[in-house]
Amino acid sequence: MPEATEAWLEIGFGGGEHMAAQAGRHPHALIIGAEPFVNGVASAVRHIEERALRNVRIHEGDARDVIGWLPDACLTRVFIMFPDPWHKARHNKRRLIQPAVVTELARVLKSGGRLRFATDWADYAEWTIERVLADPAFRFESETADRNAPPADHVTTRYEEKKLGDCAPVFLDFVRV
Ligand SMILES: C[S@@+](CC[C@H](N)C(=O)[O-])C[C@H]1O[C@@H](n2cnc3c(N)ncnc32)[C@H](O)[C@@H]1O
Repeated sequence: MPEATEAWLEIGFGGGEHMAAQAGRHPHALIIGAEPFVNGVASAVRHIEERALRNVRIHEGDARDVIGWLPDACLTRVFIMFPDPWHKARHNKRRLIQPAVVTELARVLKSGGRLRFATDWADYAEWTIERVLADPAFRFESETADRNAPPADHVTTRYEEKKLGDCAPVFLDFVRV
């Protein structure tokens, strides 16, 4: 998209509601979405067509592959909205947020770029703060001290509406130093 002034990435967009709404609000941003769930991709395509969006590109598959293909310092924003919680201790290792993924996100984000993570599982919020801030490339920068306050530009997601977690949604914004 030649007119794009920035590139964003949404990891695990589910039904694509958040991605499509953000793309509609930010036509200057090229939004890459990655999602392996085929029904989610079909839903996202419907949202994109209904809104006649031209600034979304979809990868039907693992976001970690997309990240690996990206050059250094190319993204302004990354969204990880309500990733699979894998809340049983023996499944924690399946969580998306792992030190190697954090390192890769630091590589592809521009300085000043932002990573937004949301979850309604208290333990995953703490897990993520610990792992993201363990990387000196990131610092914490949320709009308010209240982590349960949705950021001004937040769009409610389908998973969020289901309220399946063990706490109110937590929103974490990190800045790439
Ligand atoms: C709990 S759902 C949340 C979906 C959406 N973000 C929402 O809030 O409604 C997590 C999504 O992440 C997707 N996902 C899991 N691992 C992924 C990966 N490695 N790359 C991209 N998407 C992934 C799943 O298929 C699922 O649709």
